Amino acid sequence: MNICIIGTGYVGSVTAACLAELGHGVLCIDVDAEKVDRVNAGIPPIHEAGLEELFQKHIGKRLRAVADYTPLADSDISFICVGTPSAKDGEIDLSAIKAASRDIGTSLRKEDRQRHSSSENYHVIAVKSTVVPETARNVMVPIIEKYSQKKAGRDFGIVVNPEFLREGRAVHDFTNPDRIVIGELDKRSGEVVAQLYEGFGCPLIRTDLKTAEMIKYASNAFLATKISFANDIGNICKELGIDTYDVMHAVGLDRRISPSFLRAGAGFGGSCFPKDVQALIHKAEELGYRPKLLRSVMDVNEGQPKRIVRMLERKLGGLAGMKIAILGLAFKNDTDDVRESRAIPVIKMLTDKGAKVFAYDPAANENMHSVFPNIRYHSSAKDALKDADACLVMTEWDEFKKLDGEFKVMKNRIVIDGRKVITPRKDIDYEGLCW
Ligand code: UGA
Repeated sequence: MNICIIGTGYVGSVTAACLAELGHGVLCIDVDAEKVDRVNAGIPPIHEAGLEELFQKHIGKRLRAVADYTPLADSDISFICVGTPSAKDGEIDLSAIKAASRDIGTSLRKEDRQRHSSSENYHVIAVKSTVVPETARNVMVPIIEKYSQKKAGRDFGIVVNPEFLREGRAVHDFTNPDRIVIGELDKRSGEVVAQLYEGFGCPLIRTDLKTAEMIKYASNAFLATKISFANDIGNICKELGIDTYDVMHAVGLDRRISPSFLRAGAGFGGSCFPKDVQALIHKAEELGYRPKLLRSVMDVNEGQPKRIVRMLERKLGGLAGMKIAILGLAFKNDTDDVRESRAIPVIKMLTDKGAKVFAYDPAANENMHSVFPNIRYHSSAKDALKDADACLVMTEWDEFKKLDGEFKVMKNRIVIDGRKVITPRKDIDYEGLCW
């Protein structure tokens, strides 16, 4: 099939490369001309395991990029992969979705002029961006119809096909999905997109547009709920002197629960969970329902960074003038992404209280520098730990598991671990955030 991908961010570039690998002709459309040039040079716009190899293999052959929408009309499917960031009060910002809908509509209208007939070419628009229920039907369809002068379900199709890709494992997750969800306006649209996923060997859910949109939110909200649940239990365990990792290991062996996403600690960050849970809360409240559980999920998550700073304050008897080493700045391991990283509120609280922060992350120093230009960044854990009054561990990097003698360079060997990655040693004052 001939496929267009609109937006070459993390979802767009992974989808493009993986579909090219499956044998399809893929054209990436991005309004950012610099990104287009990079893609055409075989350089993926993001760092993601396995992505560069796929780009190098397919670029100039099955994979290309352009900066305008003209070729879209000749393709079978266009995937919308633009960002839906948070606007005020947690609502999602649909401006990129609206702009893409407008440009697709305009391009489909031109198609009519070129072909004088729309009946041979049933273009299907597939929404991969995370959008709150009813967005495809109530926001996108009217815009596309207006600009194309065509009718959804008759002249063009639309489906919602959410992604379930984890950063750092996105290529793997694309090719090994647990399920594929296709929400369709009409059967014909669903059939076209279902063909793409033939042979994936996992359950394929065909449903309507808003159910598919909700499946994405409910999935992320449930995973976030598991983490906040693990943190709530962890905070109780801490008071009782129980290791919550032992508890959750046994709890997760119940097949109805599963062991995943039960690691207690500093909480969840990233560009998805905080934004998506907030957006779902906002949508619910707009409809007149107050989702108490989801609000608590966010409250627990916001409480974890405060707990780690309080623990540190108690241990040091005050933070003013203290030198605090922060190990880990990325929102999770194996990424340089610092969006909504739990290290951000921690560093903010520490600097507000007059502490001096000395940070180290194996990949995210540069990105955190644009958030906090005035703290010190180091090129190794040992450098950051030198003469520190205490250390906080904020990201679950494997590299930190191997730390051993490095702690000897600290002034006070106080280590508070927000991720259970450090191996406790006799000569350090080690404390876990919730174990
Ligand atoms: C998440 C989902 O896992 C993907 O399925 C989804 O497609 C994606 O959001 C999205 O909506 O696009 P991602 O944001 O890459 O993927 O990150 P996760 O690996 O899920 O981790 C999120 C956060 O939860 C991290 O800060 C991590 O440290 C934290 N976490 C995770 C815990 O604190 N405990 C756990 O047990 C698991």
